[in-house]
Amino acid sequence: MESNKVRQTFLDFFKSKGHEIVPSAPMVVKGDPTLMFINSGMAPFKDIFLGNAAIKFPRVADTQKCLRVSGKHNDLEEVGVDTYHHTMFEMLGNWSFGDYFKKDAIAWAWELLTEVYKIDKSRLYVTVFEGSVEENVPFDQEAYDTWKLYVEESRILKGNKKDNFWEMGDTGPCGPCTEIHYDGRSDEERAKVDGATLVNNDDPQVIEVWNNVFMEFMRKADKSLEKLPAQHVDTGMGFERLVRVLQGKQSNYDTDVFTPLLNKIEELSGLRYKPEDEDKHKKQLIINIAMRVIADHIRTISFSIADGQLPSNTGAGYVIRRILRRAIRYGYQSLNIKEPFMYRIVPTLAHQLGQQFPELNTQKILIEKVIKEEEISFYKTLEIGLKRIDQVCIDLTASHTGKVIDGKVVFELYDTFGFPLDLTSLIARGYDLSIDEEEFNRLLTEQKNRSRAATSVDTDDWMLIEKNKKSSDNTIAETEFVGYSELECTANIIRYRKVKAKNKEQFQIVLDKTPFYAESGGQVGDAGTIENINEKINITDTKKENGVIIHFCDKLPENMEASFVAKVNRNKRTFTENNHSATHLLHAALRQVLGTHVEQKGSLVNEEYLRFDFSHFSKITDEELAQN
Ligand code: ALA
Repeated sequence: MESNKVRQTFLDFFKSKGHEIVPSAPMVVKGDPTLMFINSGMAPFKDIFLGNAAIKFPRVADTQKCLRVSGKHNDLEEVGVDTYHHTMFEMLGNWSFGDYFKKDAIAWAWELLTEVYKIDKSRLYVTVFEGSVEENVPFDQEAYDTWKLYVEESRILKGNKKDNFWEMGDTGPCGPCTEIHYDGRSDEERAKVDGATLVNNDDPQVIEVWNNVFMEFMRKADKSLEKLPAQHVDTGMGFERLVRVLQGKQSNYDTDVFTPLLNKIEELSGLRYKPEDEDKHKKQLIINIAMRVIADHIRTISFSIADGQLPSNTGAGYVIRRILRRAIRYGYQSLNIKEPFMYRIVPTLAHQLGQQFPELNTQKILIEKVIKEEEISFYKTLEIGLKRIDQVCIDLTASHTGKVIDGKVVFELYDTFGFPLDLTSLIARGYDLSIDEEEFNRLLTEQKNRSRAATSVDTDDWMLIEKNKKSSDNTIAETEFVGYSELECTANIIRYRKVKAKNKEQFQIVLDKTPFYAESGGQVGDAGTIENINEKINITDTKKENGVIIHFCDKLPENMEASFVAKVNRNKRTFTENNHSATHLLHAALRQVLGTHVEQKGSLVNEEYLRFDFSHFSKITDEELAQN
C-alpha cells in the first residue's frame, strides 16, 4: 500500500466512525510558553483537554505534523543513527473529547490494524498501565479487560509509568495509555526469542506503532495530579512506522516516504544508499547515517519555514538553524559535499507531500531561497572555522608544548563555527594531535546550565477564588472578552497565580469579564488598572496562554473577592491600534511594489512603533522604497 493511501485509509476509517477530519495545525507553536513546537497530535487540542476552549466536534481525526527536538520529547540524537526515530514525523490520531472512552478506542484500533490494514495478529503485542502507588493511579483493569476480548493474555503486557503513562510536558494533560507494538523479525528469529520480551526494549524490529492515551488528569506545577473535568481519548500512530509495517520493510527509510528523498541525495552526492551488512570498515554505515539525517532534516526545515518559522539566532528559529547546520555538516563530513545542496531536495519533497500539505507547494520558492541562503552563509562559517583549526594545529605542533588541543578552542569551534566534536577530533588527528574532550564537555554543560537558568520560569499552580467561580461546564469560555467595543467594565477575579522569571516575581490574574486585549499577532497586550474604592492595581501587560486571557501585575489586591472596574489605558490602546492598522497598509504596499509572494513572517506593534518582518528574496532597493 502506498504511503498516501495508508494515510487516507486511516482518515476514511475514522470518518466512518463519526469523526470530523481536520487539517494538521502548523508545527510552530505561538501562545504557549510550555511548548516550542507541536510535539504530538494532541498538542493543538490542549485547550480543549484543559477545559479552556469549547468542544466543536466531540470526535476528531487527522494527521498532525510533529517535531521532537526540544523539551520533554526530544529524539534528535537518535535520528539517522537508528532507522525509526525522526525529528519531524506525521502522527495519525483520533480523539474523543468527553465522548467515547477505552472500550471503543481499543476496539477501533484493533479493527483498523487487523481487519482494514490486515496486519498479522501474531506479530502484535499490547501494553497497559500497571498502576503507580506513588501517583495513586491504579492498574488499568478496564483497558486490560477490553484487550482480552481481542488478544490472548500472553500478548497483553503490563508497563510502568515511563512507558504507559503519557504526559505532554512537565505540566499539562496526561493519563494512562495502552500501546500497540509490532514484531517485524523473521519467523526464524521469532521462534527463537519470544517477541514479548523485546517490547519496549529498544529492538529496532520490535517497535511501538500506536499509542492510545486515556486523558483523565492534569499534571500540576507542584507535580500532583488533578482529575480533568471530563475523560478524553488521545491517540497517536507514527505514520512513517505504520507505512514501514505495511510495506514489509526493516527500516522507515526503505519506504516510499523516504526513498524519493534518498534517491535525490544519492544523485547530489554521487554516492549510494545501500545495505551495511558486509561493511567491515563501517564506510557504508557512515554514508547511510548521513543520508538518513539529511532525508529526515530536510522535512523538518521545509515544514518549519512553510509554517512561518525561519532559521534565526534565537528561540525556535535557532533550533531550526541548528538542525539545518547538522544536516549540512553530515553532508560535508560524510558525503563530501562542499556546496549548497539541501535546497535542491525541496522540489522532491514538495512533489511527494504537496497534495496532503499544500503549503509545501505554495511556499516552495521561499523555502528553497531561505535554505540556500542559510547554506551559503554556513559554508562561509565552516571555512573560517577550518582555517582557524588548521592554524591552531600548526601553532601547537610548532610550539612543541604538547599534543592535546585545549578544550576551550574545541568549544569555541563548536559554539561559534558549529563544528561537532568528532569533526574537530578528525582534523586534529590529521596533525597527529588529540583534543581535551573532558574540558570541552565541562564547558558544554556549563553553557547548558546557563541557558536553562536564563529561560527558566517558575510558575505556581492556579489558586481559585471559590466565590467568583463560574459554571464548571467546560464548553463555556471562562472569560467574557468585551474589549472590541468597551475599554472599561466591572470584573471579578476568578483565579490567580505567582510566576517567577529571572528572579522577578509577578502575579497573573484571570477575570470573569475583561476589556483587556491580549498580545496577539504582534500587537502588544493592553495595560491599565483594576480598581475599586479601596484599592487600585496596575495591570502591566495582558497575554493569552492556551486560550486564557491573563493579566499581569506586580502585586495582588488585598481583597481578592471584591468587585473591580477593569480599565484599559486608552492612549496606549489607540496608538497601538493605529500602528496595527499601519502594518496592514505596509503589507499591502509591499505586495504591490515587490509582489504577492510577500508574506508576513512576524511583527511587533506597540504604542510607539511597528516592526514588520516579511519574506522577500533580496534586499529592497532605494527605488522600491521610494515608490508610492
Ligand atoms: N499523545 C500520545 C503520544 O504522543 C498519543 O504518544
